[in-house]
Amino acid sequence: MALIEAHGLTKKFRQAVKEPGLIGSLKHFFTRQYRDRLAVDHIDLSVEAGESVAYLGPNGAGKSTTIKMLTGILVPTSGSLVVNGLVPYEKRQQNARNIGVVFGQRTQLWWDIPVIESFNLARDMYEIPVKRYKENLAQFTEILGLDEFMNVPAGKISLGQRMRADLCMALLHDPKTLYLDEPTIGLDIAVKDSIRRFIRSLVVERGTTVMLTTHDLGDIEDICKRIVIIDNGKIIHDGDLAKLKDTYARDRVIHFQLARPPESMAAICAALPACETTTDGLRLSVRFDRFRLTAGEIAAAVMSRVEVIDFRIDEPEVEDLIRKVYLGQLSLESTDSDTAAPSLVEA
Ligand SMILES: Nc1ncnc2c1ncn2[C@@H]1O[C@H](COP(=O)(O)OP(=O)(O)OP(=O)(O)O)[C@@H](O)[C@H]1O
Ligand SMILES: [Mg+2]
Repeated sequence: MALIEAHGLTKKFRQAVKEPGLIGSLKHFFTRQYRDRLAVDHIDLSVEAGESVAYLGPNGAGKSTTIKMLTGILVPTSGSLVVNGLVPYEKRQQNARNIGVVFGQRTQLWWDIPVIESFNLARDMYEIPVKRYKENLAQFTEILGLDEFMNVPAGKISLGQRMRADLCMALLHDPKTLYLDEPTIGLDIAVKDSIRRFIRSLVVERGTTVMLTTHDLGDIEDICKRIVIIDNGKIIHDGDLAKLKDTYARDRVIHFQLARPPESMAAICAALPACETTTDGLRLSVRFDRFRLTAGEIAAAVMSRVEVIDFRIDEPEVEDLIRKVYLGQLSLESTDSDTAAPSLVEA
């Protein structure tokens, strides 16, 4: 059995429907109206130990709700869920020993006491052996640079410092699974980088299973191999990042820097069937399907017709890809990868 096994996992929320203003409030007081909202809608998810999964989706898709069910904070409305042999909401305490959780929007640290005291409380709560606690604390303090604010109350440290301290707090008891709900939200690039490196090292060196929700796609390329996308409570994609790119980001663009303007664009375009060719002064860009043509073929076809000084190939941005998936611009069911490759026209 996989570490996380969810079948038909569903969470329905009852949301109050209230008209705006005082009259709305009064009406709502006397005749309350509700509507049901399926935040998570019959999802099947299976995550093996050691996997690093990016759990993506637009705002309100159901990501946090899923994480909350996996951690045992929320009780599913229906479906089955087993994490590390336990039903999380039935065995919350036992489950808590196996997992570490960081919610970027909320801290686990005690607000009024020095950060180190929160760590010490975690040590006592989780009954972490003293030796192990000291080793982990020393290691995380060094990697995450916690020294400078260790004795400052959590309420008085910056967001980036708080997030680093939260990560440490979540990991002191050596959890096998780490749930991260937007761990880099609002952080500067340097802190984001150090957090991503740290999480990556947990996956690689400790074999920690990571489930990460984020709107910052830089996080996923650094940390996750597998991408699960949820929209409207339903999983609309589950597969590895490389496959997602191969299937849906087939286009590449080569930008050529030319020595002089081409004599005949028509000849170049004719030599590059099924490509989108654009020019801007001494720049020539060719968009092509990399499963139909190779960059080498494109370069050869262009260079035989015009003098090229330099060229660069643009890979598709993961952000563009995910944006397209969110916007429903891609059919996730089928592709036309079987269509025959055109041959380049010789002049
Ligand atoms: N406690 C709650 N009571 C009622 N509705 C809720 C509750 N929590 C979440 N919802 C609703 O469930 C849906 C999913 O919310 P969720 O927080 O899981 O989204 P999300 O994918 O984490 O979004 P975001 O990217 O904005 O964090 C939303 O429509 C939200 O309004
Ligand atoms: Mg959320």
